Amino acid sequence: MAATRKFGVLTGGGDAPGLNAVIRGCVLRAEALGVEMVGIRRSWLGLRDKDTMALDSHVTHRWLVKGGTELRTRRYDPFDKNEEHMVLTGFSDLDLDGLIAIGGDGTLTTSHRFHQLGLPVVGVPKTIDNDIVGTDQTFGFDTAVQTACEAIDRLHTTAAAHGRILIVEVMGRYSGWIASHAGIAGEADLVLIPEAPAALADVVAWAQGLKSRGREYAILVVAEGAVIMDEDGKPLARGKMTAAGYEKLGGVSVKLAEILLGAGIDSRTTILGHIQRGGTPTAFDRMLALRYGARSVEILAEGITGVMVGLRNDHMTTVPLSEIAGRRRNVDPSQAELLWILSPLEHVGKG
Ligand code: F6P
Repeated sequence: MAATRKFGVLTGGGDAPGLNAVIRGCVLRAEALGVEMVGIRRSWLGLRDKDTMALDSHVTHRWLVKGGTELRTRRYDPFDKNEEHMVLTGFSDLDLDGLIAIGGDGTLTTSHRFHQLGLPVVGVPKTIDNDIVGTDQTFGFDTAVQTACEAIDRLHTTAAAHGRILIVEVMGRYSGWIASHAGIAGEADLVLIPEAPAALADVVAWAQGLKSRGREYAILVVAEGAVIMDEDGKPLARGKMTAAGYEKLGGVSVKLAEILLGAGIDSRTTILGHIQRGGTPTAFDRMLALRYGARSVEILAEGITGVMVGLRNDHMTTVPLSEIAGRRRNVDPSQAELLWILSPLEHVGKG
């Protein structure tokens, strides 16, 4: 059957395991609907530069297992560079009928702005941070939690051997989803997340009191964006603005370990960093990503645009991009509270 319509798909922002599975989900559904799919390379830059890649079920064969994104990605916002009209021109020059934008808060906000300018776009929620509103879960999160949990499992034995505190820093700029899930599943002793600021003095007191509480060693999981306030009310670590205009975090665990060492407490740091984003997605993320991809094409084919596909109670839904743009889904403190009770965690950050 000759293709009557042509949809583009792009991946924007930081990569997340499952991006290629979303693309394959798009392609398989598009072929069933008689729609042609075109890959747009390097996020919005690919529309600006008309840099594309042909996609079909053969090209995307075995993409479910592939980490990264075969379309490549960039942190690039055309509105920041006043290049939005070049992107719109690229879209029409490529004869596209619709666009699927797979990305996190930045890409979805940009998608919303383009939709307001008339671009027929559907968003797919991607980020290992799991902090997108309008969905129960982003793809990539499950893989990141699994990776972090495996690292914590390994760190238990070396921490026990030396009687140390091992501080594991995980990603999560503004939300503690990875830290709380990996920390609880990995039986960490303390988890510090951005949603629950902690006083440095309380953390030091917790560490000093370990031995008297009969503990030989401890695992402390800290989200990179955790807020730990010193005695002057200043955060222990601050982010640095990057050239791409977003805050780069990382290093709070190093500062914390230095302070604990200074207080005579043997401690070391492991920063998991981009290991959490790399490699093959879990089976859960592959399934979720496939569903997101397939549903996004169906919606676009039905003529619905300006929405993001979401997951609600295991069903695919749609949410207007206007309700997502510029917002963030944080760990619900009441849910976090329940989790602290269910697991033997000591949570100095609460209240
Ligand atoms: O937004 C996802 C994320 O992995 C954050 O957890 C982290 O702060 C950031 O991206 C790192 O970005 P980059 O790859 O640009 O260093």
